[in-house]
Amino acid sequence: VRQRVSLEVNGETVEREVDTRTTLLDFLREELHLTGTKKGCDHGQCGACTAIVDGRRINTCLSLAVMNAGAKVTTIEGLGTPEKLHPMQAAFVKHDGFQCGYCTPGQICSAVAVLGEIRDGIPSHVTTDLTARPAISGSEIRERMSGNLCRCGAYANILDAIEDVAG
Ligand code: FES
Repeated sequence: VRQRVSLEVNGETVEREVDTRTTLLDFLREELHLTGTKKGCDHGQCGACTAIVDGRRINTCLSLAVMNAGAKVTTIEGLGTPEKLHPMQAAFVKHDGFQCGYCTPGQICSAVAVLGEIRDGIPSHVTTDLTARPAISGSEIRERMSGNLCRCGAYANILDAIEDVAG
């Protein structure tokens, strides 16, 4: 079954007719050619496909494009430009928060959303008291970033980058 879907991606309204089985990940990559969002496992286990939808991060491989009709989607391409990096992108560069770089777009989208979750008081398994600034701790960030795998093992530097931006 094909269906028209309209959503906002990186500030631009896009409308396409898609097979209703098309994941948001495939929609971004195949229809819009936004290949910054990566396909790792395609099963919700690696986080490489993370993008920000209406302010919250999701695994785009687990969400159908048509389920996101009307949503505001931000991918790595929408966070910054080579001339003007997003602060989280700049921090990943500064702290060498990657090796091969395949997981990096997902890591960065996730990290940006994590700081939003903490700001908005959304609890995690580590702590439910987010009223105090110290809640932005290494363990808090590690827990929230646990859905983003890095096969190169750059975790320490990824954490440094996020803690740098978190302040
Ligand atoms: Fe979506 Fe791995 S590609 S979680």
